[in-house]
Amino acid sequence: MRKRKLVVLSGAGISAESGLQTFRGQDGLWEGHRVEDVASPEGWARDAERVQRFYNLRRAACRQAQPNAGHLALVELEPYFDVYIVTQNIDDLHERAGSKQIIHLHGEILKSQSSKDPKLVFDISGDTLKMTDLCPLGSVLRPHVVWFGEAVPMMQVASKVVSEADILLVVGTSLQVYPAANLIYAVPHHCEIIVVDPQVDNLRLHHRVRQIAAPASVALPKLIKELAK
Ligand code: APR
Repeated sequence: MRKRKLVVLSGAGISAESGLQTFRGQDGLWEGHRVEDVASPEGWARDAERVQRFYNLRRAACRQAQPNAGHLALVELEPYFDVYIVTQNIDDLHERAGSKQIIHLHGEILKSQSSKDPKLVFDISGDTLKMTDLCPLGSVLRPHVVWFGEAVPMMQVASKVVSEADILLVVGTSLQVYPAANLIYAVPHHCEIIVVDPQVDNLRLHHRVRQIAAPASVALPKLIKELAK
């Protein structure tokens, strides 16, 4: 019997309890910076070293962080469902929790890419990228992160996966960034949608969406027990 497909759409909120900052907290800043200043080609063109420093700090924080009960609960689903994690997060906490099928829509902070050819992607062994680290084409290596205004190469793959979902579990995303936020409309009509977020009321969701106003580390372990029956 085919396992039902359960797709998770996760955002910064699932990593919040691992100590990694979300993007649009109270002050709407990301670690004191306007996201557009440090996560955009314009920001890179204006001051590449500032952007490099910013991501070096984020990368060190990512390596220090541990997966939390929310990440781990999603792994518990794998014996019961064909689970895909479509994440907007650039950390590797889903990987380290043990999830297997992960699609990073906005890139991965532990990897670098050529500033000339985005298809040239490399692992970063330490925490820092320096301006003297060059790609084989001689360009400065930048974080392998999708910045505002850039193409989202994995969007087509993610849309296809979501279009076959029996359950879509949305966790820790304000659904304010496109095209990722459009994925919630890519589900088949029979698909059950569940949203987990302490501020779920702010998301103004369709009434048929099941809304759980709680942190991921509290809501997901409970939800997994219910779904795994
Ligand atoms: N558990 C679940 N959700 C939480 C928790 C928690 N413990 N803490 C906060 N949240 C929720 C917030 O209420 C908010 O709705 O997580 C969401 C985080 O929203 P954002 O900070 O906007 O993060 P995200 O939606 O992932 O941003 C999308 O924007 O800056 C770009 O590329 C960046 O991938 C990012 C994209």
